[in-house]
Amino acid sequence: MSMLTIQPSGQTIDVPAGTTLLAAILQSGVSLGHKCDGKAECGSCHLYVLEGRKSLSRTQREENNKLDTIVGVSSKSRLACQAKIGDEPVTIELLSFV
Ligand code: FES
Repeated sequence: MSMLTIQPSGQTIDVPAGTTLLAAILQSGVSLGHKCDGKAECGSCHLYVLEGRKSLSRTQREENNKLDTIVGVSSKSRLACQAKIGDEPVTIELLSFV
């Protein structure tokens, strides 16, 4: 179990390890784009990880390939549908509200 903090609202939720950021965010009632339903194809779930990056699952090739096509990508970028939460607290920043 880990704690996820969602910025800019500051909402915090407890999340079981192994849950994707996308699933955790949607379960908390917050909207986040996910047009391809978690296949790393659309990029609409792009967000920034502010803290706890090392607690997340490693970035795989499909995610890296998609991130390479997105404007505004930084070293903090992840696709919420690909990043799974581990055991350490994580803080993310949503880049837009749907
Ligand atoms: S939901 Fe499409 S890339 Fe994450």
